Amino acid sequence: MMDFFQDARSDGSGRVSLRHLAGRDQDEFLGLVGASAELHRPWVSLPSTPEQFQDYVRRYARPDEESLLVCVRGSGEIAGVINVNSIIRGRFQSGSVTYAAFAPSAGKGYMREGLALVVRYAFEQLRLHRLEAQIQPGNYASIELVRRVGFRSEGYSPELLYIDGAWRDHERWAITNTMIDVAPTPPHPTLPER
Ligand SMILES: CC(C)(COP(=O)(O)OP(=O)(O)OC[C@H]1O[C@@H](n2cnc3c(N)ncnc32)[C@H](O)[C@@H]1OP(=O)(O)O)[C@@H](O)C(=O)NCCC(=O)NCCS
Repeated sequence: MMDFFQDARSDGSGRVSLRHLAGRDQDEFLGLVGASAELHRPWVSLPSTPEQFQDYVRRYARPDEESLLVCVRGSGEIAGVINVNSIIRGRFQSGSVTYAAFAPSAGKGYMREGLALVVRYAFEQLRLHRLEAQIQPGNYASIELVRRVGFRSEGYSPELLYIDGAWRDHERWAITNTMIDVAPTPPHPTLPER
């Protein structure tokens, strides 16, 4: 597991880096979740108590789930969290992204930079072929975020996910590793030869 991921191929001007969520982030994370309630409602629900946070850390220790913090380089401030969920190997090599900015640093382009890094991390380090984002049609900020990172609209699934007390319709956005310039990596060992 990587502790840090930043754009090693660029001129180093990227403003954020990624690191995995850890138990020691509890106090800062819970403080940021508390400060972001208005931004997150009704789209996402993040852990808001120490017990929920510890469950969350345990969940993301599993091999099919990763939780990455978007950190501002220099200060180390946590600008947001981006998770790669439901990683399926074999002929699929795909995962779903879920994400949230934290209010003190939202709207500054950090999530766009962070999601672009997660895409590179997923394709180059996790050796996935595809990342998907499921987004409610009214969540304009989220749709713009994935659009600007290069995801394409794949379609629409009625009643896809249970969010805020009801089954909600979602747009499906995705990006594959042939759509962007990624460093060549050997295929994941679970990918069949043909
Ligand atoms: C979606 C979310 C993560 C975006 O975070 P953010 O801090 O605004 O993201 P950024 O500042 O990196 O902006 C990303 C891009 O989206 C655009 N954007 C952001 N909010 C927008 C809005 N309301 N309408 C249109 N465009 C918007 C920005 O202009 C930016 O594009 P640019 O860099 O080309 O200017 C944030 O709004 C959030 O946490 N929402 C609640 C949780 C959520 O909805 N999660 C996703 C569930 S599917």
